[in-house]
Amino acid sequence: MHQSDEQRLLERCLELLQEKTTTLSSASHASPVERYTDPERFEREMQTIHQQLPLACLHSSELPGPHHFRSLETHTGAVLFTRGEDGKVNAFHNVCRHRGARVESRASGCAKAFSCPYHAWRYGSDGALVSVPFEQTCFPGLDKQAHGLSSIPCVETHGFIWLCPAAATQADAEQQLKQHLAPVEGDLTWLGLDQLHVFKQHRRRWRCNWKIVTEGGLETYHFKFAHKNSIGPYFLSNTCVTDQLGAHFRVVMPTERLRDVTRDSLEEARLRDIAHIVYGLAPQTTLLVQKAHVDWIQIIPVSADETDIVITSLIPTPPAALSEEALGHWQRNMAISIATLDEDFELGESIQAGLTSGANQSLTFGRNEGALEAYNRWVEDRLEATR
Ligand code: FES
Ligand SMILES: [Fe+2]
Repeated sequence: MHQSDEQRLLERCLELLQEKTTTLSSASHASPVERYTDPERFEREMQTIHQQLPLACLHSSELPGPHHFRSLETHTGAVLFTRGEDGKVNAFHNVCRHRGARVESRASGCAKAFSCPYHAWRYGSDGALVSVPFEQTCFPGLDKQAHGLSSIPCVETHGFIWLCPAAATQADAEQQLKQHLAPVEGDLTWLGLDQLHVFKQHRRRWRCNWKIVTEGGLETYHFKFAHKNSIGPYFLSNTCVTDQLGAHFRVVMPTERLRDVTRDSLEEARLRDIAHIVYGLAPQTTLLVQKAHVDWIQIIPVSADETDIVITSLIPTPPAALSEEALGHWQRNMAISIATLDEDFELGESIQAGLTSGANQSLTFGRNEGALEAYNRWVEDRLEATR
């Protein structure tokens, strides 16, 4: 994003402030409750969206150098991420090629090789099978080259490591990710996410559908009410600039500081000083962009009415280099983010609990909640396209 784009977004914020309004769609919409409750539909969403599209699974700083590794549970099973000697990131099914035991059970660490706990078949960080106990006598003629860890295409870009489970080859993965991120490419470059570092991570399971969580990040109508005891007072009420960028959404949420900006001072104003920006990157990645840091929120569907949410605070300084004072600052920031987001997720649980009551056949999205309908349209289009 160039400075002129930032200014255009600020101009649009100012226009909305003057008109005392927000981004409006042409009509309000009804959102059928089955969108959030139907287990069969949930399975189709998993197959056609979450198991197909590239997913940001790790921040680059979680594999800070050669031989660092992380193991994760994903929608494609247990995955072992490694950074090789050459600095390149690999992803493998964390499954032994002998009789299928999990090769690495630690969540993270630094290792040049991985030894399966069952019979000690040993793999390099590039996935190659390097040794097999009693190989000559027990596995004569074993083609070791054909028994390396089974790899899953993944790509490192814009500070994240993206798993591309549906890609047939590494080249396909690169092409698929490029296409997927093309509409937000300029924005992601502007954010400089590869310059950030993981500060802390917080994970919790919530009893609500994944789309309810996403919807909560696409409007500011609720700020003054749901967040009245936290961030509400700092933001303009029901005023945000919303754009759909391919499969993704950008919501610019101006703070009260926008009132100090005039058309004359616009040129000096920087967007991140005046607004928080939410990027909803389909399907699971939300970036909550603040002045000097970014909260990365992973929305991981578990079932039609359960979602794991991982909040990761990405900050500009490596945590080990923080002064006592800076450490306290980022700790307080993280606590505020979690407390505020919990207000959203608690409401998400209350919505989910009411869906099966029969009170509503559908939920109502106002013209100020047009992004919610547009997001659901995108989901339905994907479901339709793959029928
Ligand atoms: S299952 Fe891994 S070495 Fe046997
Ligand atoms: Fe909220």
